[in-house]
Amino acid sequence: MKTIAVKTGRPYHIQIEDGLLRRFPELLADVYGNRKPALAIVTDDTVDALYGEPLCRQLADAGYPVCKFAFAHGEDSKTLETVSRVYDFLAANSITRSDVILALGGGVVGDLAGFAASSWLRGIDFVQVPTTFLAMIDSSVGGKTGVDIPQGKNLVGAFWQPSLVVCDPHTLRTLPEETFADGVAEAIKYGAILDGDLFELLESGDLQEHLEAVISRCVDLKREVVEQDERDKGVRQWLNFGHTLGHAAEACSNYTLPHGRGVAIGMVMICEACEKAGVTPKGTATRISNCCRRYGLPVSTDAPLEILCKSCMGDKKRTGSKISLVVLEKIGKAALYPVEAKKLYSFLAGERSE
Ligand code: NAD
Ligand code: GLY
Repeated sequence: MKTIAVKTGRPYHIQIEDGLLRRFPELLADVYGNRKPALAIVTDDTVDALYGEPLCRQLADAGYPVCKFAFAHGEDSKTLETVSRVYDFLAANSITRSDVILALGGGVVGDLAGFAASSWLRGIDFVQVPTTFLAMIDSSVGGKTGVDIPQGKNLVGAFWQPSLVVCDPHTLRTLPEETFADGVAEAIKYGAILDGDLFELLESGDLQEHLEAVISRCVDLKREVVEQDERDKGVRQWLNFGHTLGHAAEACSNYTLPHGRGVAIGMVMICEACEKAGVTPKGTATRISNCCRRYGLPVSTDAPLEILCKSCMGDKKRTGSKISLVVLEKIGKAALYPVEAKKLYSFLAGERSE
């Protein structure tokens, strides 16, 4: 078992191993000792059908009071309305401050359940059990929780670290290939911004042979960044490489484009613009694009640039009149590059400013 200790304000362990869910009660006991808090499982209907009942049985057999709430899968459910239904469920089951929310699922479940945990009774513990590749390497790490509102994605949320993350790559065997690929986009992101060797491994197509090692590497890279900048004031913003345009592409598709696909498009678009501006070495966009395509990820969108730019104006990375773009100095090294919001279109279009 690979254990990664995350030293944030509220420290916790991320445990990674194939088949680890079988040892879940033991891992909970490492955190809660002999105490048996009630476990309020929050999941989606797809994951529930695959893993919900066996997990409930296993935890109940180990002596934990267990209750479960499943909402309809998909980004459409990541709303305040669903959070409100989670509150109803927590109230109906008398979940107290000493109890625990258990997020079983992908990034949508983790973000939403984490946000419910951050706000229920002003904050209770939550445990992440990520079941998508994306959630294992990214969304379950670092404590960003939240939901979407009509004005934009993830605009309402809280920093709320989990008390444990249990990552069992065995669960990825039931994941559709396309959903797996969404996670690969985030792995490519880590390679592009922080680790040229990881990027080369992904570029070579050897991911499946090294899956557990890649998960551990990505988690460790994110740990390092989050420990330096838990509240996203500086270096953590590198993790948003490809996300400004990626979120815009998602929004323009009415959120039918999954997050990972948006990130793939966003990474290629920003590198193309940065090559034209002389910020990123020539050939970088092609390498990222080829790598994304190897895993069946899209690298462009039909959405017009004007509309994408408009959508970027509501981005969280905007401060005052500037929008902070994440760019690549080279593969494996990111930097922040503030651009005047009103010049975003011309920058992305590759127009030279006077
Ligand atoms: P998701 O949670 O919607 O999961 C994708 C689909 O896979 C869903 O239909 C789900 O039911 C299904 N699924 C999950 N696990 C499965 C399994 N083991 N077998 C079969 N099907 C399974 O999407 P996602 O890609 O995991 O996460 C995307 C979300 O994560 C977005 O909302 C994004 O904003 C968020 N995100 C958050 C962070 C963060 O730091 N908090 C980082 C990156 C992304
Ligand atoms: N996914 C970006 C972050 O966690 O900061």
